Amino acid sequence: MRSLIDIVDLSISEIDELIARANDIIENPKKYRDVCRYKKLATLFFEPSTRTRLSFEAAMMELGGNVIGFSEANSSSAAKGESVADTVKTVGCYADIIAMRHPKEGAPMVASMHSEVPIINAGDGGHNHPTQTLTDLLTISREKGRLNNLTIGLCGDLKFGRTVHSLIVAMTRYTGIRFVLISPEELKLPEYLKRDLLDKQGVSYAETTDLEAAMPELDILYMTRVQKERFFNEADYIRLKDSYILNLDKLKNAKQDLSIMHPLPRVNEISTEVDSDPRACYFRQVLNGKFIRMALILKLLEVNPDED
Ligand code: NCD
Repeated sequence: MRSLIDIVDLSISEIDELIARANDIIENPKKYRDVCRYKKLATLFFEPSTRTRLSFEAAMMELGGNVIGFSEANSSSAAKGESVADTVKTVGCYADIIAMRHPKEGAPMVASMHSEVPIINAGDGGHNHPTQTLTDLLTISREKGRLNNLTIGLCGDLKFGRTVHSLIVAMTRYTGIRFVLISPEELKLPEYLKRDLLDKQGVSYAETTDLEAAMPELDILYMTRVQKERFFNEADYIRLKDSYILNLDKLKNAKQDLSIMHPLPRVNEISTEVDSDPRACYFRQVLNGKFIRMALILKLLEVNPDED
């Protein structure tokens, strides 16, 4: 039995297989509509979510399965003091697979050590978000036709943004990748990722506070929200929240085939005037999230729709 806690739990060839499966689901949706009949997915969300939880639920429904779960910690026995270990041992009696989001870093990993069914990390604190990364990889591969030889600008809250952390870990495994890390001084990428990953593996990167200066060289611009819920001090959040606001003017020196991505939710960091620019792919990215989660559920449940 496999869980997905960190994106590196999957090899590059497994990621390629998931991308191929997601593309097949997009092209042949009917083939998949009954393949998880009588299977149940539980979504245990101890932190707010719209896309991740609903895309897991929609994914399971489109595979013909069912969904149970809760969307806030207060409505679960966690509010009575139950441990994550006991919660997943219990839920594993009802469901075949569990997607868990938790504010504590490492909670889904602890859950996987006690669970009888696969656990999918749907975001743990400021740490990791591997299924958003799978979504991002599918999006990059569909938009760009490749996962190597790309200059990727990551802009916004690089300190607390878990989607950024997982995406960097994932993209570092491909060749010809250069990162441009665009953030205010206070929200720079954590040292451990620079030192233990980028420096160690000789991955090319630059750090800047200037989005417009970085723009012309980018193939991908990955915008992020300043992570209000991870700040200790409201004044700091208010000071930093609007550090970057992408608008059409700031895109005037961008490549014609730039892909603008965002894991969403957006607050102010992309002006809505950008939405109708063909380079904006964040809503296509949302849709890709459902398809790659369908592929992941099939893999972890060991359901092979090509065999009858
Ligand atoms: C992200 C998250 O939860 O980390 N959202 C998502 O899952 N699509 C990004 C964010 O909340 O800013």
